[in-house]
Formats: sequence, structure tokens, C-alpha cells
Amino acid sequence: MSDPVIAQTSPYRVDLEEGEKYAYCTCGLSDKHPFCNGAHKEAGEFKPNVFIAEKTETVGLCGCKRTGNEPRCDGTHKSL
Ligand code: FES
Repeated sequence: MSDPVIAQTSPYRVDLEEGEKYAYCTCGLSDKHPFCNGAHKEAGEFKPNVFIAEKTETVGLCGCKRTGNEPRCDGTHKSL
């Protein structure tokens, strides 16, 4: 499996709403970051990380696609 494209080397701050479903882009090719726009279909080997927000909050979703805690930023981008 190839590495995903680095969309940016910092997290995206987004407001999540409790109970809402989100599709986090894992391939790095979306033009709607940090969310999926279907671009992974061209890359072939990636699927979005679909999750439901457990609470309403502002979070940092990973932009570098190298986090160990997907979809959240874990600081890995600082070492890129
Ligand atoms: Fe990817 Fe922070 S943006 S770990």
C-alpha cells in the first residue's frame, strides 16, 4: 500500500456535532479537506474513515495523513 498524499503539515480545526456522521479523507486527494470528496476512487487503495462524533466539540483533524490516532492529529506532523 502506498502512502497517502500529505494534504498539509498541520491539523484542520473543525467543529463536530454530536451524533453527526463524517467521512474523513485518508488518501489526501480530496479538495474538501479534511473530509472525503470521493477522490480516493482514483487512488484505488484508500477508503474514507467514516465516524460519528461522540460529542459536539472543536477538534484538530489530521492534515498530514500520518497520525497514529486517525482521524485526529497526534502531533506527528511536527516531525515531517
Ligand atoms: Fe497529521 Fe498533526 S496534522 S499528525
